[in-house]
Amino acid sequence: MNLRKENLVRAIEAIAAAGGSDAREARLVAENLVTANLLGHDSHGIGMMPRYVEALLEGGLHPNRQVEVKFDAGALLTLDGCAGYGQSIGLQATEMGIARAKQHGSAIVALGNSHHLGRIGHWAEIAVAAGLVSMHFVNVQSFARVAPFAGADRRFGTNPVCIGIPLEGEPPFLLDMATSAVAQGKLRVAHNKGAKIPPGWLIDVDGNPTQDPKWGVLQPLGAMLTTGEHKGYGLAVACELLGGALTGGGVTDHDNKTRRRVLNGMLSVLIDPARLGTQKTFARDAKSFVAWLRASRPAPEHDRVRLAGEPEREYRAVRERDGVPVDEETWKEIRAAAAKLKLSPEKVDALARG
Ligand SMILES: NC(=O)c1ccc[n+]([C@@H]2O[C@H](COP(=O)([O-])OP(=O)(O)OC[C@H]3O[C@@H](n4cnc5c(N)ncnc54)[C@H](O)[C@@H]3O)[C@@H](O)[C@H]2O)c1
Repeated sequence: MNLRKENLVRAIEAIAAAGGSDAREARLVAENLVTANLLGHDSHGIGMMPRYVEALLEGGLHPNRQVEVKFDAGALLTLDGCAGYGQSIGLQATEMGIARAKQHGSAIVALGNSHHLGRIGHWAEIAVAAGLVSMHFVNVQSFARVAPFAGADRRFGTNPVCIGIPLEGEPPFLLDMATSAVAQGKLRVAHNKGAKIPPGWLIDVDGNPTQDPKWGVLQPLGAMLTTGEHKGYGLAVACELLGGALTGGGVTDHDNKTRRRVLNGMLSVLIDPARLGTQKTFARDAKSFVAWLRASRPAPEHDRVRLAGEPEREYRAVRERDGVPVDEETWKEIRAAAAKLKLSPEKVDALARG
């Protein structure tokens, strides 16, 4: 089924509210998840809500939490997310970072112990809209899912890296990527659809390559592979060391076999390009380089060269027009999650249909 974004927001908001979130937080959670769907990242969209509900019921996710400032040296901030909803903790941390970067020219925000921060690009987009360059290294404390390069078992999470750069006269460059070959949720989406996955994403429990997404979803789990072999692996380790160890949030919870919560640590580096004294050359060179890239001849089976961030904007245009496709299995899980919070699934259906 294809659902309108406003209606989906209302349905997800109702579930978050039934889980104890105040109106502001419930809306932030719902808007953030639906935006991920709109941008084509169904893996980080409304399909996360059932997982959040399990984490809430287990006590690993706490509604209505605020960040706690652990250390404040002006342009350096260390924050504890207190296992609150990442959609609200991430916004607070980003807003604080933006204010500090505007004040000091740059800022580093070490955020530990936030519950799932969703699409990391969401935070970069907010900083970029304020005119800042925004870089993020993120670890995922949940059970390990990804094998190290040359390893046959799971040692860390899908550890995303994100770089947002404002460009004069056009939408920003927004690279937002898991360091695993794909985000874990894409395996869940493929599994829910009964689809095969491309080679290079996953190995089975014996370390052999597989195209069956069940090895990333059902027990016994295989392991996901990093993107770009040893290079993505190196970036994933940097995310764990910076987003996990350096922020104080903690590293992969390798003893955690059952807990449903997903904690993210995020080291953010924000730079005000207007304060580096290179504003003119930055604008001129960025523009000319992007034009040079775009003038590249399309390779066979490609229509044109894009910049990171463009595919998401293309998805948004289509899904704002046609609605967000939601598969049956995902909707079934969302209805079941509502029921666990004593919210009638029929009410959720009605909200989603408008
Ligand atoms: N919070 C967490 O714990 C967590 C963990 C992992 C991933 N994530 C999120 O999952 C999302 C999906 O990650 P992913 O790695 O599957 O994304 P992806 O592979 O779809 O895209 C990665 C990047 O490549 C760019 N891109 C895609 N196609 C392109 C093309 N043809 N030309 C130029 N650029 C192109 C995209 O704009 C994006 O910036 C991200 O938003 C990420 O932040 C979150």
